[in-house]
Amino acid sequence: MNTSPHTVPEPTLLGNSPVMDWLRKAAARISMGKAKVLITGESGVGKDLVGRYIHTKSDRGARPFVAINCAGVSETLLESELFGHVRGSFTGAHRDKVGLFQLGHKGTVFLDEVGEMSLRMQALLLRFLENGEVKPVGSDAVSARVDVRVIAATNRSLPDLVARGLFREDLMYRIMVVHLEVPPLRDRPEDVRLLVEHFIAQSGASLTVSDEAMRALEQYRWPGNVRELQNVVEQLIWLRGEEVVGVKDLSAWLGTDRNGLMVPARERRKRVADHIYDALVAGSCSFWEHVYPMFINRDLTRADLQALVRQGLAVTKGNYRALLTLLGMEADDYKRFLNLLSTHGCTVDFREFRSGRSTGDRPIEPVFKIPMTKAALPRTSKHGEAGVRSA
Ligand SMILES: Nc1ncnc2c1ncn2[C@@H]1O[C@H](COP(=O)(O)OP(=O)(O)O)[C@@H](O)[C@H]1O
Ligand SMILES: [Mg+2]
Repeated sequence: MNTSPHTVPEPTLLGNSPVMDWLRKAAARISMGKAKVLITGESGVGKDLVGRYIHTKSDRGARPFVAINCAGVSETLLESELFGHVRGSFTGAHRDKVGLFQLGHKGTVFLDEVGEMSLRMQALLLRFLENGEVKPVGSDAVSARVDVRVIAATNRSLPDLVARGLFREDLMYRIMVVHLEVPPLRDRPEDVRLLVEHFIAQSGASLTVSDEAMRALEQYRWPGNVRELQNVVEQLIWLRGEEVVGVKDLSAWLGTDRNGLMVPARERRKRVADHIYDALVAGSCSFWEHVYPMFINRDLTRADLQALVRQGLAVTKGNYRALLTLLGMEADDYKRFLNLLSTHGCTVDFREFRSGRSTGDRPIEPVFKIPMTKAALPRTSKHGEAGVRSA
């Protein structure tokens, strides 16, 4: 469950651009009151961060900050998460549960992706915003009257949703007393350098980025915004270790169009798979610690993972057990690995590599490149150590 009923440290809301400067000042100013705030902007621009920033700057800063992603849960569950439930109110409700509005008393409740709420939940939220009364699921009685500040966020246009009958207009006006729009990263390229340096410093790595590469990063369109930038930096750290990152190292993530502007590379998939394959074979990253989380967080697609498997199978002539060794996994991981592939529909048929028909995307590797077992490799569990090349 995407909830966090705890007090939070003040987040670092970085940015040199005039708009980020304005946003920090505006956020600090509105933190003083109790006005409901709506934060909008594309995915990954920092809406959560702005929400936390407002909370920590406010006089509620020492009280709970409770966040929930309204898109991540079913309607029934969302109602019970927000308002709580009484024992026996539905299958699995073995005991009474206190809802987030009550847990957030005197603090802030952050409703992420509020545009995804069903119309019924919108009606319940509106009623709550009018009277502050918490009525748990399965009970007719009001269990508490609470004082929370509601901050909502969405990457959708609420006026559009209202026009299409998917969002209540009265609720929109209620939650949008103050409206902050966080601009996409491509509109504030002057923030890129600061963010890159921040994410490197945060990981404890000593990676440096050449001026040319930094310019390329500044020109890139960043469809996934700051979150995408953070992912690219993290991947560079474990693929490039302590080296200097040049512009050609970025080719797996960014490419150039005819005008020389950075755009997502058309060849991205193959190149990402190549980079990861090289790092795994060299032992500079670990499948379960680095590649698997990227896949689960959708930073790697199924096609990326399949491309990786195909490259390996071309080398091992379709032998999956040898593939594990090649990619630095233990023999014990065999079942887990095959389960992962089959669960996500990424299994590659080994037979085409047996007949010698396919050689995958790469030439057959010489045997001496097959790495030692994982135990013999340096630990790469922490970001600080990740990416330090052992070969
Ligand atoms: N201005 C910023 N300074 C530092 N980190 C940022 C900034 N904006 C975004 N981030 C980081 O980028 C990631 C995505 O931000 P998040 O607030 O979750 O975006 P959103 O909620 O808009 O999808 C988070 O890890 C966040 O800490
Ligand atoms: Mg968010």
